[in-house]
Amino acid sequence: MAYNDFNMDNHWLPFTPNRSFRKNPRVFVAADGIEFTTHDGKKVIDGISSLWCVGAGHNRKPINEAIKKQLDTLDYATAFQASNDRAFQAAERIAAMAPGDLNKVLFCNSGSEAADTSLKVALAYHRSRGEGHRTVFIGREKGYHGVGFGGMSVGGIPANRKVFSSVLLPRVDHMRFIHDPVNNAYVNGVEPEFQEDLLLELENRILPLHDPSNVAAIIVEPVAGSAGWYLPPKGYLKRLREICDKHGILLIFDEVITGFGRMGTNFGADFYGVVPDMLNFAKCVTNGVIPLGGVICRDKLYDAMMKTDAPEHVIEFFHGYTYSGHPVACAAAIATLDLFKQENSFQRAGEMGKVLGNAFHSTFKGMPNVIGIRSLGLAAAVELAPLAGAPGKRAYEIFLDCFKNGALVRPAGDTLVIAPPYIVEKSHIDTLVNTLADSIRRHA
Ligand SMILES: Cc1ncc(COP(=O)(O)O)c(C=O)c1O
Repeated sequence: MAYNDFNMDNHWLPFTPNRSFRKNPRVFVAADGIEFTTHDGKKVIDGISSLWCVGAGHNRKPINEAIKKQLDTLDYATAFQASNDRAFQAAERIAAMAPGDLNKVLFCNSGSEAADTSLKVALAYHRSRGEGHRTVFIGREKGYHGVGFGGMSVGGIPANRKVFSSVLLPRVDHMRFIHDPVNNAYVNGVEPEFQEDLLLELENRILPLHDPSNVAAIIVEPVAGSAGWYLPPKGYLKRLREICDKHGILLIFDEVITGFGRMGTNFGADFYGVVPDMLNFAKCVTNGVIPLGGVICRDKLYDAMMKTDAPEHVIEFFHGYTYSGHPVACAAAIATLDLFKQENSFQRAGEMGKVLGNAFHSTFKGMPNVIGIRSLGLAAAVELAPLAGAPGKRAYEIFLDCFKNGALVRPAGDTLVIAPPYIVEKSHIDTLVNTLADSIRRHA
């Protein structure tokens, strides 16, 4: 198929430079395993699990079959004042995978909705306990929590906030970013040890400024994914947990990327041994096939909201989406989680992550313009010096060039990230890394 076989006048692409795309379209028409076919018949390796979603690889029959069966059984049912059997089953499976007493799953359809849902739960929970004054949220610089107004407000990627800054939530602050480009530019498969305690700023400046008694929740990604795979210092998340406990502040982990196997464990919470009060998920839970997201809440949040003087016919939490717990999405989730278990996928992700990390460090270190390499779990990032006066351009051009040469990689600022499906083989990693290395050399 030639690209002018379809009309490009109507589809406005998200998070994409549309003018550039029209000149050089990248359109997938099929996928199998770890490989796409494009509209012009090219094969492209999916080096980013299609935005961190497709852990089990593309076109997995057990997931496809479960969806088809569900469509023929119960296609959809209202999510309010009733539910469906698959939603209960999927929630049970997800809660069983989550650590501690993270047992109550509020479904939604995306990571952005999960972010806003978790912030709203925090407000409602505090209010139900007579602490409605807790309305301050704290995020982190370069955090990404989607594109809803709540998620954007606690998010910290400047370009995502710039145009909307005047209407973001008013009572939000941000912790410092977690990166030390001098002492920890290169990190391979370990938790970086920082000379500086990044959380002193939270304890000594941010919390006293707002007064901790006013703070509803702190939200962080265990690993900063969208910013370019930045790893928290050793002990950081544990200490964050302790600070939250000390002040009655809820801790939210946004695990949209780190959830369901990317770290070689069920969740980032397991990898770091820290249980948050809420855990947001979206990607990988259905292998990307059908949208599904959610917030897993600790029992105490649900219990507090059920302990109300309101009569029983009154809704306890005025929140939800028409498609919360959609039966087809939940059937896809159950089949995906079964498949991950059968194939021991998360363990494999952890093992292949070491192969990927070693390949990154042995190939890219010392190459032109390389100023950092970070790998942990099944994801690795190589950071490049930006072109003078044109931040992001070098990585964008390398991304285009890699695509032309059969590898889908992800540019984030001037960082390039590879995060392949868990079924990745060493030969795919070699191809991806070599394609990226050739391109970095061509753009020196
Ligand atoms: C940590 C995190 N939170 C939220 C989101 C937003 O998810 P969605 O695009 O499904 O709304 C993303 C997307 O990449 C993410 O990485």
